[in-house]
Amino acid sequence: MRASGIILAAGRGERFGGDKIFAELGGSPVLLHSVRAFLAAEVVEELIVVARPGMEFRVAALLQDLDFPVRVVTGGPRRRDSSLAGVEVAQGEYVLIHDAARPLVGAELIRRVLRAAEEHGAAVPVLPVVDTLRYAENGFLKPETLPRSGLVAIQTPQGFRRDLLLPALRASEENLPDDAAALLVRGIPVAVVPGDPRNLKITFPEDLTLAAVLLQIRGH
Ligand code: CTP
Ligand code: MG
Repeated sequence: MRASGIILAAGRGERFGGDKIFAELGGSPVLLHSVRAFLAAEVVEELIVVARPGMEFRVAALLQDLDFPVRVVTGGPRRRDSSLAGVEVAQGEYVLIHDAARPLVGAELIRRVLRAAEEHGAAVPVLPVVDTLRYAENGFLKPETLPRSGLVAIQTPQGFRRDLLLPALRASEENLPDDAAALLVRGIPVAVVPGDPRNLKITFPEDLTLAAVLLQIRGH
């Protein structure tokens, strides 16, 4: 099998204040949006959705009417644990790992990441950082400046040759901010492709309001 899609939906949504993957967005639960984007991209042969322990049946119920092989597996306490659970069972030579919290991902971005992963072994979508960055502490700015040139913000889906990512994730005992980190700490290069500013991550409740507006503009 060429590629597997893995959608991480096992987080607690603490900053959102509840289970954001079941929250309603444009008439569907947040989770279903990225599932549909993966089906529309037509580049993965299976989908694996990683669910929070105890939520497996609720997640499976959302997915039961899809005319596509979708497996639900149980995630763990840290993102890295959930990611590993998905990659362990994936059959594809390549895996595309996506945050369910990014429901507005488009089919074109999914294909772009897979193409780059096939060429380089590992690839992630990024956006240039446009704001000036500084550290703040106790209500005031610190004097240290961060050079902005070359700084990027990292999105998902992230694509990898499975045989590169699996040992790196297994060896990562610490929590990781994303899957690319597992390779980078081991000196394995990760390519970048242009991300999509609409592919926002739902972290706080107001992000859902913004996502609904973006969805309306997109028209479906
Ligand atoms: N995730 C996961 N397993 C975890 C932690 C996170 O599958 N143990 C997933 C989330 O479901 C989400 C994605 O990783 O789709 C990005 O994580 P984040 O936005 O931080 O979501 P949560 O961890 O759910 O939110 P919070 O950190 O506010 O609790
Ligand atoms: Mg989190």
